[in-house]
Amino acid sequence: LKKLVIAVDGYSACGKSTTAKQVASVLGYRYIDTGAMYRAVTMYFLDHHISLTNPKEILKALQDIHITFKVNSKGKSETYLNGLNVEKEIRKMKVSEMVSQVSTVKEVRNALVEQQRRMGKEKALVMDGRDIGTVVFPNADLKLFMTADTLVRAFRRQKELMEKDQLVDLDEVMENILQRDKIDTTRAESPLRQAEDAIVIDTTNISIDEQVDEVVRLAVSKA
Ligand code: C5P
Repeated sequence: LKKLVIAVDGYSACGKSTTAKQVASVLGYRYIDTGAMYRAVTMYFLDHHISLTNPKEILKALQDIHITFKVNSKGKSETYLNGLNVEKEIRKMKVSEMVSQVSTVKEVRNALVEQQRRMGKEKALVMDGRDIGTVVFPNADLKLFMTADTLVRAFRRQKELMEKDQLVDLDEVMENILQRDKIDTTRAESPLRQAEDAIVIDTTNISIDEQVDEVVRLAVSKA
């Protein structure tokens, strides 16, 4: 069977990573969460008070940032920043509120896209983000573009945060999702947009199992 690169893009909180993770596990592929990489950079920038208007400072910081993924004992991939497990920290609202702004910075995108392309060299991978099918892997074997109703996305994200003991108002979650979508779709550097050859999956009314089955079916037809 041919080894594929599967690109999953779409709006915030519509089930990209949940689907991508499970599809990777069914196919025996690696899963890479590029949002986690932008979140880790954001956490570093917040901790080190890096100014987004100072490219020199940004480039210096990027040289000091090393992001890796490690699979934990439960088989879940976790994000490490300079050797430290930051998986929990990067999902907090403090990071969510800043990440889209940090992701507009050209130097940040260049550094992360380069690392992402290196990680994709051996194929057999599912990568999710905002610019995977358009910029990182324009020749991906399968491209998906995920969407869902905003209120449904907010409910799902709030539930996910609650399960991690983070109590956040629905309004606040919703506002963050809309704000990120707005910045992500209107930025100058590789804005979020649907690749011409992407298949759209609207997850508003379908279960996770249905999403996963559909993507696996598409992948098998390409392999
Ligand atoms: O995927 P997640 O929602 O965790 O991504 C967080 C943020 O990182 C997005 O809202 C977007 O601003 C940025 N991002 C990006 N390009 C990617 C992945 C994420 O700009 N490939």
